[in-house]
Amino acid sequence: MKVVAIANQKGGVGKTTTAVNLSSALARRGQRTLLIDLDPQANATSGLGVDPDDATDGSIYDVLLGATTLDSKIQPTQHEGLSIIPAEMNLAGVEIELARMEDHLLILQDILRKAKKRAKFDFCILDTPPSLGVLMTSALSAADEVLVPLQCEWFGLEGLSKILHVIEQIRDSGVNPRLKIEGILMTMYDGRTNLSRKVVQEVKNYFPEWLYRSVIPRTIRLGEAPSHGKTIFEWDPNGTGSEAYDAAAKEFLRRHKLKALPVRAAGKLSG
Ligand SMILES: Nc1ncnc2c1ncn2[C@@H]1O[C@H](COP(=O)(O)OP(=O)(O)OP(=O)(O)O)[C@@H](O)[C@H]1O
Ligand SMILES: [Mg+2]
Repeated sequence: MKVVAIANQKGGVGKTTTAVNLSSALARRGQRTLLIDLDPQANATSGLGVDPDDATDGSIYDVLLGATTLDSKIQPTQHEGLSIIPAEMNLAGVEIELARMEDHLLILQDILRKAKKRAKFDFCILDTPPSLGVLMTSALSAADEVLVPLQCEWFGLEGLSKILHVIEQIRDSGVNPRLKIEGILMTMYDGRTNLSRKVVQEVKNYFPEWLYRSVIPRTIRLGEAPSHGKTIFEWDPNGTGSEAYDAAAKEFLRRHKLKALPVRAAGKLSG
């Protein structure tokens, strides 16, 4: 099991949209995927149609505090191959409790290391909150790789240098010396503006090996889907958003030297 944190300390850049739709795309392409929602906002949880208010007994909260096992909180979703551990609002309180504990940055790392041995999943995707709090740093400490979603806006570039700096700090601290940058995925791309093109070009100039060739367009459909508890593959199966996240998942799999299996469900994307 590879642990991939979707992280960018900047808010509203498409982390959750990427976590939900990439997880779903990977599951559709044959990877057993676990999505862990580490954000008290619980947007990935509700985006996958799980009510965070009902998740109180089933969230990652007790796992982090050592009260229960990770496996006991894994819920299947309506998508074959995709499971979730939901978040809940109380998760905000965990930050404070965790911060009091010794070696708190190693807690999630330790939990996921044990989960790796059980080999139930191929990928574990972590959706992280937009701050540099304990939950976010725990995620970076526990991850093998970070995927950074970057909004196609000028301030997105400033955010990028910050997150790269944080990743370096995590490595240098010795907590997770092998943390790798998996890639940078450009989100909310608007082909009608020069700005979007310029920002992508800038990232390409500086970080060509990290930049995903797939770019996620700004589409109303991607914004709508979570309010219906649906992934883009259900909400707009033939639209540009589905196409883009499926292409990104294929690229992700190529980077991991894995094959994308054809999608089985009739009428959906294939090939
Ligand atoms: N490609 C897109 N096109 C249109 N709307 C999008 C796109 N990606 C995300 N959105 C919308 O933009 C908003 C922010 O996206 P999202 O929640 O994924 O960002 P985030 O980085 O997880 O935010 P936060 O930092 O608060 O966790 C949401 O309302 C989402 O539905
Ligand atoms: Mg989010």
